[in-house]
Amino acid sequence: MSAFDPVSLDDPLANARQEVAESLRRRRPNFSLPQPFYNDARFFALDMQEIFEKEWLFAGMTCEIPAKGNFMTLEVGDNPVILVRGSDGAVHGFHNVCRHRGSRLCVKEKGKVAKLVCPYHQWTYELDGRLLFAGSDMGEHFDLAAYGLKPIHVKSAGGYLFISLADEPPAIDDFLVTLEHYLEPYDMANVKVAVESSIVEQANWKLVIENNRECYHCNGAHPELLNSLQEFDDTDDPRATPTYKALVARKQADWDTQQVPWQLKRFGKRNRLTRTPLLDGTVSMTMDGKPACQMLMGRLESPDMGSLRILHLPNSWNHFMGDHAVVFRVMPLGPQQTLVTTKWLVHKEAVEGVDYHPEQMRHVWDATNDQDRRLAEENQRGINSKAYEPGPYSATYEFGVIDFIDWYSERLQENLGQSAPQLQMVQG
Ligand code: FES
Ligand SMILES: [Fe+2]
Repeated sequence: MSAFDPVSLDDPLANARQEVAESLRRRRPNFSLPQPFYNDARFFALDMQEIFEKEWLFAGMTCEIPAKGNFMTLEVGDNPVILVRGSDGAVHGFHNVCRHRGSRLCVKEKGKVAKLVCPYHQWTYELDGRLLFAGSDMGEHFDLAAYGLKPIHVKSAGGYLFISLADEPPAIDDFLVTLEHYLEPYDMANVKVAVESSIVEQANWKLVIENNRECYHCNGAHPELLNSLQEFDDTDDPRATPTYKALVARKQADWDTQQVPWQLKRFGKRNRLTRTPLLDGTVSMTMDGKPACQMLMGRLESPDMGSLRILHLPNSWNHFMGDHAVVFRVMPLGPQQTLVTTKWLVHKEAVEGVDYHPEQMRHVWDATNDQDRRLAEENQRGINSKAYEPGPYSATYEFGVIDFIDWYSERLQENLGQSAPQLQMVQG
């Protein structure tokens, strides 16, 4: 390719697009992906353009920006984004980019403001994105209305905030209606973040998600988590024993009495929700299996709610128990670097040091996150070797990984503007 190739001038990733599309067309179903998907900078750029800038992403919780003027920021690759609660009570989402000369507008991760004021030359925006003030030098005919902040799509349900940077995002409302229903017992308007952690993993974001989608590694890696976690969550799972099935039947009857949903629901391969019991005798993901918070969430009357597991591809998994919830957000930072943010939620009225102790609450998932970080980083190191070639996923232990990689391949192909019929996935 010459540097003056007109195609490459229009789209520096044109060749990479073809390579990715071709590679996906030829990929072996139920095998891990070829090496460049995990370590190549151009493939990573396409993941950002075609997945993270086009799909719905989990951004944060509504309880993090509870009142007018509260904002939170995040970075979707090169795209700074801001979510702010307006005077109308609605959450507005914008590119966090000043319309003057493009400075990042809000530099803090969270805060509260009356107006959004650019730190560079103080252009000032209303919470709904309208430009209010652009200095006196722009002249009296300067059209403020032409320089409002650029909006992004925001949807909220069940206390979750999802964003999309696409012009026309994919449909998601059917999942959101179900999410709202499954979280009704938790009264998500009255929760707060008790503890928050962010870790950077030296691994491609897909390795982080792949690792999360299976518990094949749990026995060897997660002693703390296995004090309470059931390694599978479906009575149809080949690993489900009669004892597990009896436990599930008993708990489901309890949950029905409390009108708490538990049924397994899927929305394509992108979203999955199900409530499953924790190990018999435990009610929370703590070292001793006892509640980490004495005040239960929402309208719940028993701490024994198992775990409501919620998956949102490409970037979130979640566990809701009776006493607290743990939500996870994954944001790619580079081809081999990923930010994982974990938030522990409790009832808004729960008092730190009285109802809960942050160190005790976070213990199991801090340990688990660090163990998973090491697994993903070792996975990355091996994949970078010239000896790496795609390896087979287990249909029993790694069906979640198969689903994730199928979802990723299908969305990437579709978003690349290719048709995907050639990829006949093996359906489980
Ligand atoms: S870049 Fe924002 S005011 Fe100048
Ligand atoms: Fe793990």
